[in-house]
Amino acid sequence: MLFSTKKDLIGIDVGSSSVKLVRLRESRGNYQLVNLGILPLAAETIVDNTIMDSSAIVEAISNLIVGMKVQGKRVATSVSGHSVIIRKIMLSIMTEEELDASIQWEAEQYIPFDLSEVNIDFQILGPDAKDPSQMNVMLVAAKKDYVDDFVGLFSEAGLEPVVMDIDCFAVENTFDVNYGFVEDEVVALVNMGASAISVNILKADVSLFTRDIQAGGNIIRDELQKRLGLSSEEAERAKLGERNVGDVDPETIDDVMVDAVGNLVQEVKRSLDFFSATSADDKITKIYLTGGVSKSRQVCEVLEKSLGLKTEVINPFRNVTVNEKEFDLEYLAAIGPMLSVATGLAMRKVGDK
Ligand SMILES: Nc1ncnc2c1ncn2[C@@H]1O[C@H](COP(=O)(O)OP(=O)(O)OP(=O)(O)O)[C@@H](O)[C@H]1O
Ligand SMILES: [Mg+2]
Repeated sequence: MLFSTKKDLIGIDVGSSSVKLVRLRESRGNYQLVNLGILPLAAETIVDNTIMDSSAIVEAISNLIVGMKVQGKRVATSVSGHSVIIRKIMLSIMTEEELDASIQWEAEQYIPFDLSEVNIDFQILGPDAKDPSQMNVMLVAAKKDYVDDFVGLFSEAGLEPVVMDIDCFAVENTFDVNYGFVEDEVVALVNMGASAISVNILKADVSLFTRDIQAGGNIIRDELQKRLGLSSEEAERAKLGERNVGDVDPETIDDVMVDAVGNLVQEVKRSLDFFSATSADDKITKIYLTGGVSKSRQVCEVLEKSLGLKTEVINPFRNVTVNEKEFDLEYLAAIGPMLSVATGLAMRKVGDK
């Protein structure tokens, strides 16, 4: 293979509102930014987690690769949404090899799909704190059709997807490299995208709880559009912070924003409350936000206020060396929240789980 000696992978996150690409160079655990790009997708390209217009995505991927003269062919990418099931389960202690041999059978009761239709993967998290004869296992199942559709996009773009990850695990990876987990500290990583929000609560680097919420930034846009009588495009501009939209008074836009953001935050709060109610010993100390919606100044404020928890937006390049002559730092800071998944993917290695 042409680039088989290059171990770094190209991280490509196909989100419902845009395709993001990050390429890093790693040397002894230090990362340097090599390429970065983002290209928007029209609203009808991916709808409700279904690829409606694959050629538009292939074109965006190809344009990013060609436009930035990205070296290499090997890609780490990810899937998310309702075709992906993530469950934390408890099993009798066994070795990885033993679980590998029995996972199909063990998984059956937890997966709401026919097992012949899914790819199954797992990670042993360690012995259970309360019952040491048991161990916690993160079970992941993704519908084959769905994964195949994603793989197909990359093959069509002349690339080779060698790592297939899950969005929320890629964010976890980005967080680990840039902030690091602290022993016994419980943090919530919340990725607020255009069509979905994922919540991953971790103690040190072990996931305690994950949840996908099928709502995101698009709902804020729809709310602005409906309540203020704006076009979809005007509503999107209002959401991104423009206040001179239609004939609407800027304060009214702010009020609707706070309301709409409040509804999304309520969804996040419901998940965090559910976690708190079911795990009395583990208290969340901080929320780390990412995803495009976390750029809205209202989101942090409303979250902090309604949850009483410190909230910070993840900078995916906090521990990544960036050459100021090659990259505009202001632009990087502005799009950073959109790049946590792609950056976590770019940090993957072949063979990673
Ligand atoms: N300043 C801002 N204020 C509010 N929302 C914003 C801002 N900037 C971007 N967004 C919103 O963030 C969303 C895009 O975020 P992101 O790129 O994380 O989503 P995505 O990965 O494409 O979607 P998904 O993961 O849900 O498929 C859009 O809904 C966009 O309108
Ligand atoms: Mg996303």
